[in-house]
Amino acid sequence: MLGKANGSGQKFEPDPIPPGEPIIRVRDLVVGFGERTILKGLSLDVKAGEIMGFVGASGGGKSVLTRTILGLVPKRSGTVEVFGQDLDTADYRQRQALERRWGVLFQQGALFSSLTVKQNIQFPMREYLDMSPRLMDEIAIAKIEMVGLQPDVAEKAPSELSGGMIKRAALARSLALDPEILFLDEPTSGLDPIGAGEFDDLIATLQQTLGLTVFMVTHDLDSLHTVCDRVAALADGKVIAVGPIESMVASDHPWLSAYFRGKRARAAGIGASTHGAGG
Ligand SMILES: Nc1ncnc2c1ncn2[C@@H]1O[C@H](COP(=O)(O)OP(=O)(O)OP(=O)(O)O)[C@@H](O)[C@H]1O
Ligand SMILES: [Mg+2]
Repeated sequence: MLGKANGSGQKFEPDPIPPGEPIIRVRDLVVGFGERTILKGLSLDVKAGEIMGFVGASGGGKSVLTRTILGLVPKRSGTVEVFGQDLDTADYRQRQALERRWGVLFQQGALFSSLTVKQNIQFPMREYLDMSPRLMDEIAIAKIEMVGLQPDVAEKAPSELSGGMIKRAALARSLALDPEILFLDEPTSGLDPIGAGEFDDLIATLQQTLGLTVFMVTHDLDSLHTVCDRVAALADGKVIAVGPIESMVASDHPWLSAYFRGKRARAAGIGASTHGAGG
């Protein structure tokens, strides 16, 4: 099986998924730890070129799903296909080729604290590509500018940056390999509303200019409204609803209406505008 497509140093480049076709396809996914089952037969499609928001109660399994799609958490049953390929059946080289086609901003541990921003961004390049130091420097600076940071941030340590700058630097790292899919796990948590809004705008701009598919776990109702094409909601280990935010807000499902039309949503002026103050 070891790839004819992969001569040493050769790129393994399957065809891109056409916009609107499923680029991530999860079927009947069951994931658990010990006695506990977290995901209980979850199915979900993410379409190429969309920004999908993923919501659900804290501890419900959003990060677990993300990590399972990335192949970092073992599953009990079900299938996950990314770019039309099942990670389980991919050999080592195919898998590395797949991993190069996505970027991830994890919920925890955004940057390596002992490395500069530039070294952080170059980390995936060192891991997956064979490039000259000079080219890596140029790319790192380009990514830093792409996420709206000043080039002098390159030589700074993460401890010298604000929370919002760290998020941007981590985003720059996730873009290091020019990914086709971006996985973002609560990217705006901890940012003030203006910073969060700017980060959302950045995601939307990058999505459009780079033609990315974005899978974004978020609790941020503003993000869900302003940047997400569709929203999927997780409850009881399954996706209970998928659709544009308007259909989520209008839903009479108890969890959805509590989430999208509850006190906090109304305070943000969100549920109220669609559904009247009484809900
Ligand atoms: N490696 C692991 N071993 C054991 N249990 C785990 C592991 N990873 C996650 N869990 C458990 O799985 C459940 C779902 O966790 P997960 O991190 O996916 O929640 P979440 O939906 O992302 O929550 P939040 O919104 O707070 O980030 C939690 O109860 C968590 O303790
Ligand atoms: Mg999480």
